[in-house]
Amino acid sequence: MNNLDQLLKDAAAAFAAATDINALEQVKAKFLGKSGSVTELLKGLAKLDPEARKEAGALINRCKKGVEDFLEARREALRTAQLEAQLAAEALDVTLPGRGMGTGGLHPVVRTQERFETLFRSIGFEVAEGPEIEEDWFNFTALNTPDNHPARSMHDTFYIEGAKDVLLRTHTSPVQIRAMKAHVARYANAESMPELRIIAPGRVYRVDSDATHSPMFHQVEGLWVGEDISFAGLKGVIVDFLQRFFETDEMQVRFRPSFFPFTEPSAEIDFAFMSGPNKGRWLEIAGCGMVHPNVLKHGGIDAQRYTGFAFGMGLDRLTMLRYGVNDLRLFFENDQRFLAQFQD
Ligand code: PHE
Repeated sequence: MNNLDQLLKDAAAAFAAATDINALEQVKAKFLGKSGSVTELLKGLAKLDPEARKEAGALINRCKKGVEDFLEARREALRTAQLEAQLAAEALDVTLPGRGMGTGGLHPVVRTQERFETLFRSIGFEVAEGPEIEEDWFNFTALNTPDNHPARSMHDTFYIEGAKDVLLRTHTSPVQIRAMKAHVARYANAESMPELRIIAPGRVYRVDSDATHSPMFHQVEGLWVGEDISFAGLKGVIVDFLQRFFETDEMQVRFRPSFFPFTEPSAEIDFAFMSGPNKGRWLEIAGCGMVHPNVLKHGGIDAQRYTGFAFGMGLDRLTMLRYGVNDLRLFFENDQRFLAQFQD
């Protein structure tokens, strides 16, 4: 039956010409579909007498099986090709050069903090710490800040939802109270209490945001309590520190009278360089004053016998001055192009 052999060849050629699975299924209908050529041949069997039908039936079925085998083989080939194409398209080129292992470095504000600690340690200060999630009592009440003080209002301070009397500390001053209490406890049985000299660096939070304010910023609290501690001592410590920190005495430091509930008298410290690119640009860098007697009392210290000074200095502000950065927010955006400039 030559026409069967021809049909088989035609099918093989038609399947080979189909270049994807969809096209192949269409071609399949031409041979095996309801009115495909193989199906038509099978229908034709009805007209033959039983003897011939048997013989022809066997031949046609063999042909049908042949067509089906070709179809399946082509299907398989197309699937494999498709998979290979997909794998090739998704392949990773492992020969591409990597991004390199850049060496990390310290954040400029951390550098300032370390420098601060080194300089204050050299004059006998210890580094103290306190929690960033602070109790209202330490942050305000113990610091002589009355219940109706504006600093306590919702728009200045981050309170913790559902937790009464707990907030994100608005300054490092609560560490003054914690440090005094710990100091008093440590020397409770001693004949006399040595001087207390601490700095307390850390993060503080306020609802505030512009070029020189960020909702999270860094302060360093300083506290010196002893028998004859004076405002003159405070000035001396601050000016000496700033000269050593900036490695110059070409600077002006201004103590401007101010108010804090926890110091009396109080001042704000302004700073300006007398030379260089930022010459004459004043920046407020700290609040300070003589520790209020009520604060000493809350710390457990005899306010008749002891006096003290305290200051709270902005670490970020010092860093801006030291490196000539004019927008505080740059420190917290973590842009590598900015940060990389501070590495040695
Ligand atoms: N806590 C004050 C502030 O955040 C600064 C300050 C500290 C003032 C210590 C006086 C004494 O602004």
